Amino acid sequence: MMALARKGLFVTGTDTGVGKTFVTAGLARCLLDRGIRPGVFKPVETGCALRRGKRIPRDGAFLKHMAGATEPIEEIVPYRLAAPLAPQVAAEKEGVRIQIQRIHRAFLEISSRHPYTLVEGAGGILVPVTRKYTMVDLMRQCNLPVLLVSRIGLGTLNHTLLTLFYLAQHGIPVAGVVLNDPDGRRDPSARTNPSMLAQWSSVPILGTIPHRGGIRTTRASADEIARRVGRHVKVDGMLR
Ligand SMILES: Nc1ncnc2c1ncn2[C@@H]1O[C@H](COP(=O)(O)OP(=O)(O)OP(=O)(O)O)[C@@H](O)[C@H]1O
Ligand SMILES: [Mg+2]
Repeated sequence: MMALARKGLFVTGTDTGVGKTFVTAGLARCLLDRGIRPGVFKPVETGCALRRGKRIPRDGAFLKHMAGATEPIEEIVPYRLAAPLAPQVAAEKEGVRIQIQRIHRAFLEISSRHPYTLVEGAGGILVPVTRKYTMVDLMRQCNLPVLLVSRIGLGTLNHTLLTLFYLAQHGIPVAGVVLNDPDGRRDPSARTNPSMLAQWSSVPILGTIPHRGGIRTTRASADEIARRVGRHVKVDGMLR
């Protein structure tokens, strides 16, 4: 087992659908391949379909699979909500009261059992979780450095810098940024995104993941996702 200075990462994104699950799951598998069995945690998942009377959190299930986790899915994803909306809205719609303390206890439970824990947020950093708390409050509560996944393309400088400046202002440490291309639009800005981000921010860019058609964050793409994250992201730099 490798000696670890930090105990994990809170993976967030500039938006929904940027590749948080892709990167988190890929990292989980890369750690497993290095002999580290990571804990995985997704505090709230919305848009969970009903299967045999149970709400199935697809991101959480995929993270569990990639990390080889043995915890029941209800521990990995304490809140599993139906509506494909922000957590606060989905919870209010179902009459569920999201308790920040319960999320914290569930996180401590998992992180205490593993040498390294990967948390996937929902949406971006200011997504409302309850009437009083946003994803930033959960980051603070987990006390893990943030890994920001940004979408390559036009608009990403604005979204990435907004996110980084807000996190810095609120004292949340950032481990780095991973640029990902979930849609493969072949935008001309893709070439200049990394150098522009490096010029405008001091946060390390830990990888740039190109698009590859036909990949989904499901078991069928598990090996491919692990390979791509292993090849394009500085996993060892992240662990140090
Ligand atoms: N580099 C890539 N190449 C091809 N497809 C990708 C890539 N990155 C992500 N995708 C695909 O884009 C979709 C969105 O990615 P993902 O589910 O990881 O986003 P997310 O940020 O976790 O979204 P959410 O906010 O819903 O949790 C997925 O179907 C995923 O397989
Ligand atoms: Mg996701």
